Amino acid sequence: MRAYDIIRKKRDGIELSREELTFLITKYLSNEIPDYQMSSFLMAVYLNGMTDNETITLTELMLSSGSRTDLTDITVSKVDKHSTGGVGDKTSIILAPLIAAMNVKVPMIAGRGLGHTGGTIDKLESIPGLRTDLSIQEFKENVKDIGFSIISPTDEIAPADKKLYSLRDVTATVESIPLIAASIMSKKLAEGIGGLVLDVKVGSGAFMKTVQDARKLARTMVNTGNSKGLKTVAILTDMSQPLGRTVGNGLEIKESISALRGKMPDDLKEVVLTLGAWMIYVADCVTEEATVSKLSEHVLIKYKSELMDFIEKGDAFKKFVEFIDAQHGDPEVAFKPNMIPSAGKVKQVSVPDKGYIQTMDAEKVGIASMLLGAGRQRPGDRIDHSAGVVINKKVGDYINPDEPIAMFHYNDEACIKEAEDMFLSGIQLSEIPPDKKAIIIDVII
Ligand code: URA
Repeated sequence: MRAYDIIRKKRDGIELSREELTFLITKYLSNEIPDYQMSSFLMAVYLNGMTDNETITLTELMLSSGSRTDLTDITVSKVDKHSTGGVGDKTSIILAPLIAAMNVKVPMIAGRGLGHTGGTIDKLESIPGLRTDLSIQEFKENVKDIGFSIISPTDEIAPADKKLYSLRDVTATVESIPLIAASIMSKKLAEGIGGLVLDVKVGSGAFMKTVQDARKLARTMVNTGNSKGLKTVAILTDMSQPLGRTVGNGLEIKESISALRGKMPDDLKEVVLTLGAWMIYVADCVTEEATVSKLSEHVLIKYKSELMDFIEKGDAFKKFVEFIDAQHGDPEVAFKPNMIPSAGKVKQVSVPDKGYIQTMDAEKVGIASMLLGAGRQRPGDRIDHSAGVVINKKVGDYINPDEPIAMFHYNDEACIKEAEDMFLSGIQLSEIPPDKKAIIIDVII
């Protein structure tokens, strides 16, 4: 068998067999297939897609490239959530301690920044000393003792995703339904969880730009999860503008700490509480061996108010402090967020016009943040944890000429002009306020 022939088959739209996909993944992991051939294969998948059979096989191969966490000795429900990638999306960092505070275990394998989107692992690594490359044993102990742990794919857990993810990040092959589905579901199936809530982002800042594509991705992942005995639900949420008020690793950790202390902008709060409500409900379904069904509005409200209680009592914040300590970080950071590195320079971004903000293109904000230093150009690049964007005004807000829409935080002057042009090309003003958009778009079960 040759990688060349497999690439050519995929290029020509012919379905690959399990043997061919197995060859590709195992030889890539043992460095017998180079990055340039795998990049070419990924591009062929991006262009031609995969059949359902290929997608499931790829997911299984990526899962079996590493170990599965055995959490059977933990008897309470184990659930997780995972986002398909957004801009300013810090919900995992808020939800993991919050759900753990409610006595549901959250063993989370998260990702780094991908394309213009941020990643939970990069964000957490802005906390001095914090490590996400734990052994399975340490991961398990933290889940048992604290209620949650957040780690990155390692050579032990989901190694195929670790390697493919960083290649996709720099080869413009991220926005592919089978590649996203296999990447996410292989990690989630490795966690040893019983329930999963997926946050499938839709809009300019998401990898799925239309509701139709987002539904297709959601359906693929929900079917894969359920077929493997994992109670899976997907919530489609709006990603046409950034979520919350910060974009960039350290800045987002600071916003997450405020959120865990009860201070959240409305959009972030709505997404956190909705996903959290579904996580608690799915955890109950796991315990009761019940089928997941759509939640009525009044049940959602009840769960959301319980979640708010756990934030307001300080329990979620306390869990976050324990987590930092257990993962070798300095827990003082939670009390003094200014210990997170700050950028040397801050620049106001504004426009000479006035009006209501009609659009704030989330992808462009994400790219601007990358250009300021928060993202990577090549696999393994170092990122600037202090760089990013603080958003002062959002869609629907009125701005006056030269009023700050956002503040850029950065250290390297070289890319400031490109970042500013990128950000501003995504801002549109109008004389009348835009229609209000729902942030929760649909639920796929
Ligand atoms: N999150 C992942 O883990 N993988 C993807 O491909 C996209 C988002």
